[in-house]
Amino acid sequence: MTEIILGLDKPANDGSCVGRSDGRVVFCRHGLPGETVRAEVVDGGADSRFWRAEALAVTGEPAAVRVPSPCPWFGPGQCGGCSWLHAQPDAQLELKTQVLAETLERIGDVRRPVAVHTLGRTAGWRTRLSLHVDDEGRAGFHAWRSHEVVPVADCLQADPRMELADLLEQAWPAGATVRVSVSEAGRAVIVDSATGVSHRGTREHVHVVDGREFRTAADGFWQSHVDAASVLTAQVRELVPHEAGSRIVDLYAGVGLFGLALLDSHEPASVDLVEGDRSATEFAVRNADGDSRVDVIARDVRRWARDPGAADIVVLDPPRAGAGKQVVSAIARTGAHTIVYVSCDAATLARDLRWFAARGYEPDHIVGFDLFPGTAHVETVVRLRASG
Ligand SMILES: C[S@@+](CC[C@H](N)C(=O)[O-])C[C@H]1O[C@@H](n2cnc3c(N)ncnc32)[C@H](O)[C@@H]1O
Repeated sequence: MTEIILGLDKPANDGSCVGRSDGRVVFCRHGLPGETVRAEVVDGGADSRFWRAEALAVTGEPAAVRVPSPCPWFGPGQCGGCSWLHAQPDAQLELKTQVLAETLERIGDVRRPVAVHTLGRTAGWRTRLSLHVDDEGRAGFHAWRSHEVVPVADCLQADPRMELADLLEQAWPAGATVRVSVSEAGRAVIVDSATGVSHRGTREHVHVVDGREFRTAADGFWQSHVDAASVLTAQVRELVPHEAGSRIVDLYAGVGLFGLALLDSHEPASVDLVEGDRSATEFAVRNADGDSRVDVIARDVRRWARDPGAADIVVLDPPRAGAGKQVVSAIARTGAHTIVYVSCDAATLARDLRWFAARGYEPDHIVGFDLFPGTAHVETVVRLRASG
């Protein structure tokens, strides 16, 4: 493998820093802005537009915010889950803030100051994760941008209720995926292997958010950070205007977290929960507990977009791929005066904001939350208002 000396500049969306080698852009992990590093090129050849690399050593002065990683499996060639453990916690927030602001401006043409806030808990925060099992039956995590399994003995992200170290000591079927999750209902361990799917522990999770109970399937979607559901719900409630009798649509609703929370804090006439996963919609019906204002629409949002109907307020929380042009157009056709967009991917959010702008919606509030400490990911909540 090729080794290069690289001066590093700004942070990038994927948890690397941008450098240049002979005029070619290099995305380099494990370095920090301002550092010069000796790096190994791990992806890219003579014809590649850019290379990917991992810093093996800092050759000059280390960044003032550099710290020893608290995780022994973080480093070149090791676990790919975290990206910024070699930076002080405040510096991690600053790096994420820079990436978010730069992405919104470059892709979305949105120029405004943004900040990424910590939820306070940077270890033991993750309530769900997937382990991968190597050919020898050892569980671990994937290396960066790879399916190679890196066996580990623990993970500082894991909620202590997972008792992850115990699970990692066990032998598992080669090639299996082990999905572990916890909630007030206990722990679920779901093993997906060549011989089928086996299940240990609770089949259903229970999450209490600001006094309201939400149930999900043990392998269904729920926000990962232990404090995420309450922080995001509080933010959505704050951004949705208090208008008695409003018609609210919650797109990509999961088991109903945002839409149902708005029933308690606002006085909507109706809340439509649109969700494509059949099991999630069944739980959404249960979570709505017969409230006649709620309509659970078990449908792909792209199908909903063909005939979206009318709404005053739309909340959306799509997966990483974002909403896309067709769904953005449909939201605009509802005539909603306010849109609250919860996003786990700054690049697709920025793309969608550009399309919203073309349809007369401008952001008046943007805030980031560090729901995934140590990693490159950031959650962003944006409120858009119809102009004119
Ligand atoms: C990021 S989760 C948000 C769920 C919910 N807002 C919450 O916070 O618990 C995205 C949800 O969108 C659903 N989803 C993904 N693509 C979809 C699509 N094309 N149509 C409908 N639902 C979709 C997933 O099943 C998942 O429940």
